[in-house]
Amino acid sequence: MSGRDFPESFLFGCATSAFQVEGHIDNDWERWAQAGRLKDPQARCGKATDHWNRYEEDFDLLAQMGANAYRMSIEWARVEPEPGVFDDEALDRYARMISALRARDIEPFVTLLHFTHPTWFHELSPWHSPAAPERFAAFTQQVLEAIGDQVGHYTVLNEPNVWLAAAYVEGVAPGGTRGLSTTVKAAEGLVRAHAAAHRQIKAIAGPNAQVGISQNHVRFAPSDRNSRAERAAAKTLADVFNHALVEAMVSGRLQMGGFPGASKHISEAERTLDFIGVNYYSRLFVETKVLPKPELALFYEDRQGMGISDLGWEIYPQGLTEALQEMNGYGLPLYITENGIDDRDDSRRARYIHDHLEAAINAMRRGVDLRGYFHWSLLDNFEWLEAYEPRFGLVHVDYESQVRTPKASAEYFAEVIRNGRLGTKPSRTIKPGTGRTPPN
Ligand code: GCO
Repeated sequence: MSGRDFPESFLFGCATSAFQVEGHIDNDWERWAQAGRLKDPQARCGKATDHWNRYEEDFDLLAQMGANAYRMSIEWARVEPEPGVFDDEALDRYARMISALRARDIEPFVTLLHFTHPTWFHELSPWHSPAAPERFAAFTQQVLEAIGDQVGHYTVLNEPNVWLAAAYVEGVAPGGTRGLSTTVKAAEGLVRAHAAAHRQIKAIAGPNAQVGISQNHVRFAPSDRNSRAERAAAKTLADVFNHALVEAMVSGRLQMGGFPGASKHISEAERTLDFIGVNYYSRLFVETKVLPKPELALFYEDRQGMGISDLGWEIYPQGLTEALQEMNGYGLPLYITENGIDDRDDSRRARYIHDHLEAAINAMRRGVDLRGYFHWSLLDNFEWLEAYEPRFGLVHVDYESQVRTPKASAEYFAEVIRNGRLGTKPSRTIKPGTGRTPPN
């Protein structure tokens, strides 16, 4: 591999999720938007990037970048619009999408749950109810029968930690019921659902099909390094947020904190991961106060002078090396299944990619078994509570005309893929920090 920074076998690609790009979906998030729960109460997901009808064109863009892998998700609400009623046409379209990737020599990584649910789900079988894993398994069975023979990598759940925090702790995503005990029950439901999908994948797609998770990883740091309380709080947050669910899928032990009822053993989940997908964006500072009342604050802040993203997230590439080294402790192959920046004018993205890939190389040099990198995202797309304001894409989308235009950063990414090396450092444009930004 002379002159190369990455082995020949390294996978380079982009990630998207169904609801964020496909358009024309009625699910729990679209209803949430209709109920005025997004930051802009008028915002809707609507036709998104119309990827449902334009996937051939989008996969051409991916192929032009030289990508050899692509991470996508299946929209449950399309596949099972009514409980127990499955839509063969939707399944067929997903099978065609996957063939279209294969025809371009692009390896599909398929996520089975990326934040969204059918409109009926939370009423009938919320994640904290015992019915949820079975409901999920009925859906995944259909999906596997449709695409199982064509897909070798599954990230069953996307960021269940983020979803639990948003829906069950903060109440800002649809479906949650706030409270400690429902949160633990929902976590248990998700782990059981993952275990059921693992069984099905091995049975239907074959024992060689690789099963993973896409886990959001935040570097939690004490705001004041000298504060013992803040160091302890950062450690607890990291244990629960970054590790609890992965640990459960490795050893069966789910430990969601120190309070009574926070610990469960789920034996069916033991050894149900073949790889771990790490989604890395930034670090969060933790500040604790005791008086006048106990408080814990989380925030992003530009502490290194490397600047922030448009949403105010600190650019902290070194955190990716740390995250990969830490997750490598499970002894499983790793993939970066998301990493990217909301950068409206594309002035920072190329350098962001460079610096994060360099951080990934540093981790590999220290022995981390990293096999691939998926940039978030291929296209500008629908960003949850923020709707269409942030732009994460390598390819610009004009949402009116649906015209796609690759950005300069896509050119840089293509060059890295082509040469297997970082090449010339893109120039650095810094958007200076503006103080503390809360995570939501
Ligand atoms: C998530 C997702 C993506 C986001 C991305 C940028 O983690 O929230 O997997 O859906 O769009 O992370 O916030």
